[in-house]
Amino acid sequence: MRTIVITGGTDGMGAALARHFLRAGDHVVVIGRSRAKFDALLTTVAGDDQSAARAEFLAADLSSVTDSRRVVEHLRANHERIDALALAASFIRQRRHITAEGREASWVLFFVSKYLFVTGLAALLRAVERPVIVNTAVPGARADAIDFDDLEMRGGFTFARSNAQQRRANELLGILATNENPDLAYVTWGPARLVRTSFAGEVGTGMKVAAAVLGTLLGQHPDTAVRPIIDIIDAPASGRAAYRGAKKLTLTVSDHDDEDAARLATAVEDELC
Ligand SMILES: NC(=O)c1ccc[n+]([C@@H]2O[C@H](COP(=O)([O-])OP(=O)(O)OC[C@H]3O[C@@H](n4cnc5c(N)ncnc54)[C@H](OP(=O)(O)O)[C@@H]3O)[C@@H](O)[C@H]2O)c1
Repeated sequence: MRTIVITGGTDGMGAALARHFLRAGDHVVVIGRSRAKFDALLTTVAGDDQSAARAEFLAADLSSVTDSRRVVEHLRANHERIDALALAASFIRQRRHITAEGREASWVLFFVSKYLFVTGLAALLRAVERPVIVNTAVPGARADAIDFDDLEMRGGFTFARSNAQQRRANELLGILATNENPDLAYVTWGPARLVRTSFAGEVGTGMKVAAAVLGTLLGQHPDTAVRPIIDIIDAPASGRAAYRGAKKLTLTVSDHDDEDAARLATAVEDELC
């Protein structure tokens, strides 16, 4: 039985993945803030008591470094291996928001927490022959999108800059992860088109209405949108890759990727001290 860990597994595409892998007979660890959403998820795989028995819920706010570390420690203490890690937690903020820990919320949720999971769970992923990480960070951000001297954007936050920086950082995280484990498949993935999810977040009316209208008119159902992710997890190919839906993309490459990946790791570790 595989062990599949899904952050943001209570809703949207993460929940679609959780439903699929529970029905497929895997052990699924769902991470999110809402136990009620997890319980609702279990009712959608109801009728199959075995599925519910293979589901595990870990409540955590992944915009908190402390919570992210606690979950990683829990997984290390209670699991011997992880076959697949799907990173799909999302809470969109159009404005800079400082958490109770004094950190910028979007940077922590969309990158630092993922960094802690990928680095902290490396040993459990190394325990399987064909480990895979699917990181739902839309690939293709500019190679120079990271401000290494101001990762939390104290000097001027915009949603576009923040989004581009975390997407690029998540691509560089793949370099760190696959250097550490060449057997690992590390995929940055974005949907082929809009997906009809809850779009959880604190956004302006314009973005809210656009997401609701476009999602209803043009959006894919999450169960359909995640099919390419399921294929990647079922047949992982070692190394880094980027996808939009089922379409493989060329990775964004610059001649300083390795230096940037190392610089990012140093900057994040410094921040975490
Ligand atoms: N939907 C799209 O069209 C689209 C397009 C491009 C990229 N994406 C990417 O695809 C991924 C999944 O998006 P989605 O639309 O499926 O998301 P979604 O429906 O909004 O669901 C977000 C998930 O993240 C969890 N979450 C939110 N804040 C959290 C926090 N602070 N700590 C822990 N968990 C948290 C939520 O669970 P709780 O409420 O239980 O915390 C929920 O399970 C994201 O990375 C997103 O950026 C989506």
